[in-house]
Amino acid sequence: MKDYTNIEILEEIMSKIIVIGGAGFIGSHLVDALLDLKHQLIVIDDFSTGKKENLRKSSSRILLIREPILLTSGLLNKIPLTLKGADCIYHLAALPRIERSIDDPLGTHRANVEGTLVALELARKLGVKRFIYTSSSSVYGIQKRLPLKESFIPNPQNPYAYQKLMGEYYCQLYSQIYNLPVTIFRLFNVYGPRMISKGSYKLVFIKWLEQKKKNIPLSIYGSGEQTRDFTYISDAIDGLMRGRAVKEHFDIFNLGGGSQISIENLAKFFNHPTIYLPERLHEEKFKEADISKAKRILAWKPSISISEGVGKFMDYYGI
Ligand SMILES: NC(=O)c1ccc[n+]([C@@H]2O[C@H](COP(=O)([O-])OP(=O)(O)OC[C@H]3O[C@@H](n4cnc5c(N)ncnc54)[C@H](O)[C@@H]3O)[C@@H](O)[C@H]2O)c1
Repeated sequence: MKDYTNIEILEEIMSKIIVIGGAGFIGSHLVDALLDLKHQLIVIDDFSTGKKENLRKSSSRILLIREPILLTSGLLNKIPLTLKGADCIYHLAALPRIERSIDDPLGTHRANVEGTLVALELARKLGVKRFIYTSSSSVYGIQKRLPLKESFIPNPQNPYAYQKLMGEYYCQLYSQIYNLPVTIFRLFNVYGPRMISKGSYKLVFIKWLEQKKKNIPLSIYGSGEQTRDFTYISDAIDGLMRGRAVKEHFDIFNLGGGSQISIENLAKFFNHPTIYLPERLHEEKFKEADISKAKRILAWKPSISISEGVGKFMDYYGI
């Protein structure tokens, strides 16, 4: 278990916390970490991409509301008694992946923008002490300089990135108009156990894992020179856990590994032949997080290097 004493989080032991999207990849790890600190947890999830098995470890210790966070959901009209008195909402629910948002801009808008607005409204009605929103490094889009700093003007390139940015703007609006304290995290390519492994919108790690298992070449889009900044799941969770202790009324933090790696070099860790496919449009070429703000203010830093993380990932999936 991590020691969070240096950020005064222990004084809030036994808080009631709501995790929206808690059955997903990142959400379910967050649930486990919050339970380790003995918080009372309520998970809201519609299982659109999340899985029951992600909550296997925690299911007997959480209250699960299987309901979409959307305008059509009954949650706002009749707030369940169990949600009353909640201190904090972590809002992770989304339909992620750029390709999905290009295929289905309306469906992803509903989940990613309308869903965030409804989550904020729930936070306002409950009077929670802080709302924590998982945004994405995609909001930066194409920039002239690296590493990407929170102060850069966003330049999104696809529906998903726009939707995550709209979510940020709604957060800012609620913090200004309704005085809701908000922490936003811009996550950079999180990977690790429980990554979504079904359906057609998979992250590169899962795609390559399947290709290696089937003994077919790992697919690389474009030249392979494009870079990403990968964050191991435990480091991302460590950062998210610190979000409740933020003092500023509204603040944004990058959470990333803090260094870029090309897709071509990442593939080398998989020790398997590769095949090059046409470049994917509407995606930024280079990504590297400036993590100095999270280091300075949250006393956070990533502890798992990419080589260590890939090793852990392969061990977990048995390759
Ligand atoms: N995984 C990454 O690398 C990454 C990077 C940047 C940002 N993020 C953000 O982090 C968050 C979590 O991502 P993830 O990778 O764990 O995704 P995920 O798909 O595994 O988890 C999302 C969860 O939200 C639930 N959900 C979706 N729409 C819902 C709705 N309307 N109502 C209730 N539940 C709903 C899904 O069932 C799922 O359990 C997302 O907001 C995503 O945009 C993730």
